[in-house]
Amino acid sequence: QKRIVVLLSGSGSNLQALIDATQSGRINGRIVAVISNKPGVRGLERARDAGIDALLLDHTQHESREAFDGALQALIDQQEPDLIVLAGFMRILTADFVRHYLGRMFNIHPSLLPKYKGLHTHQRAIEAGDSEHGCTVHFVTPELDGGPLILQAAVPIAADTSIESLQQQVQVREHDIYPLAVEWFCAERLTLEATGVTLDGIQLPASGQR
Ligand code: GAR
Repeated sequence: QKRIVVLLSGSGSNLQALIDATQSGRINGRIVAVISNKPGVRGLERARDAGIDALLLDHTQHESREAFDGALQALIDQQEPDLIVLAGFMRILTADFVRHYLGRMFNIHPSLLPKYKGLHTHQRAIEAGDSEHGCTVHFVTPELDGGPLILQAAVPIAADTSIESLQQQVQVREHDIYPLAVEWFCAERLTLEATGVTLDGIQLPASGQR
């Protein structure tokens, strides 16, 4: 079984989807720790409820981004993980940190990357008049929300939709594609190569799979 560490900052609904998929045996892996940079979040509670080590590393207690990332790296490496999963971890990571986990760190982002990197993605998609929005699982590289894509899922944008409603619809799809990507990785089907992402040795299209 692969050892998985999940990093989050909030409610942890994606963590929950991953917990469910590990407990059912669908993912050949075990979440060995959940680390939050924010105290008191629901994601930590979800981890504790599932019997998973729930760790807090408060970024406000560190002098610099480098100091925080160094402490985070030490904490993660104590767990000897095979895979690091960013699940609503709302911190920009230093390039050194990202490079240390290259090829074994995933992020989920609420947009159809490369569209709408950064924040307020649902609002931006609505304001742009887009007909669809969605979410993307990708390998993390030093470029923010710019790593090679693993999976995407699209949802149509209804004419009268609200930000909240669109966010909810996208999250339903996040809870489908994140466990699937982790399942593939833990089955050793997914690798990051210099040329891109391969699944069962076959290169995935740069635009992601729907
Ligand atoms: C998710 O929708 C995820 O896509 C987003 O945060 C949410 C966390 O929800 N991530 C980002 O915006 C990363 N920049 P959750 O805590 O319920 O899983």
